[in-house]
Amino acid sequence: MKILLATQKPFAAKAVAGIKEIAEGAGHEVVLLEKYAAQSDLVAAVADADAMIIRSDKVTAEVLDAAPKLRIVVRAGAGYDNVDLAAATAHGVVVMNTPGQNSNAVAELALAMMIFMARTQFTPATGSELLGKRLGVQAYGNVGRLVGQKARALGMEISALDPFLTDEQISSAGAEPVHSVEELYSTSDYVSIHIPALPSTIGSIGYDLITRMPKGGVLVNTARKEVIDEAGLEKALEEREDLKYVTDVMPDNYELLRERFGLRVFATPKKMGAQTAEANINAGLAAARQIVDFFATGCTRFQVNK
Ligand code: 3PG
Repeated sequence: MKILLATQKPFAAKAVAGIKEIAEGAGHEVVLLEKYAAQSDLVAAVADADAMIIRSDKVTAEVLDAAPKLRIVVRAGAGYDNVDLAAATAHGVVVMNTPGQNSNAVAELALAMMIFMARTQFTPATGSELLGKRLGVQAYGNVGRLVGQKARALGMEISALDPFLTDEQISSAGAEPVHSVEELYSTSDYVSIHIPALPSTIGSIGYDLITRMPKGGVLVNTARKEVIDEAGLEKALEEREDLKYVTDVMPDNYELLRERFGLRVFATPKKMGAQTAEANINAGLAAARQIVDFFATGCTRFQVNK
């Protein structure tokens, strides 16, 4: 089978070598499409692909229409909002993710961003410490739990909100459960966002929630830019000179925010949370194994469009 490894943001060379070793060892061929310039390059490359491994690459209905042989897409990572699941299902294409495989890298970045903002973006201005501050983790899944664990080691108090977990599950994973998003924002010095982009979450974090944060509050977004209501964020930062926003998913209005609020905002130039050699290897190799298993045994573990 032909496996297209389509990564606009390429994996580390070691991850690519590992993917090839697994796939070729099982008799498959790997074709690389890295750093492609336009979506039309992806559309052209899928023409004879039986399987695909992607990252945040956009698998739209147009891509699926152009891929008559395609049977499986594995998103090497957690979030699959970049895949048109309905179109994939209509084409009979199985879509999987690789949950947990890149979580540590994202969690480490979230912590780094908290320190970066606490220390005024590594300028000599007087900063603050994380010790004794309360961190609210919005969604206590694979990444959220690791953020909580690492923040606890730095002496922070941890609260978590997760509608899919019981209080007992949250407590046994080291956080104090809170029961509403309003409570989470009102009581947390730092909020770290780990929710997916869904119709119900898009634009859900705006002026009302952000301005509930205590004095000096810092909002950390390593999840998706779409979950923020950007106009609401701007209004909150304007009204509350003590609030800060740091993100790995650059807002559309970043230039304006930076111009208006300076060191109170920061966005990485390109999403880099999962961009470590370890995360690339973990997620990439897991994706290759899932494809090999799918063709060998029909295994659909981790399918997200059931
Ligand atoms: C994910 O959903 O796994 C992360 O956002 C990482 O995305 P990336 O593979 O595009 O870096």
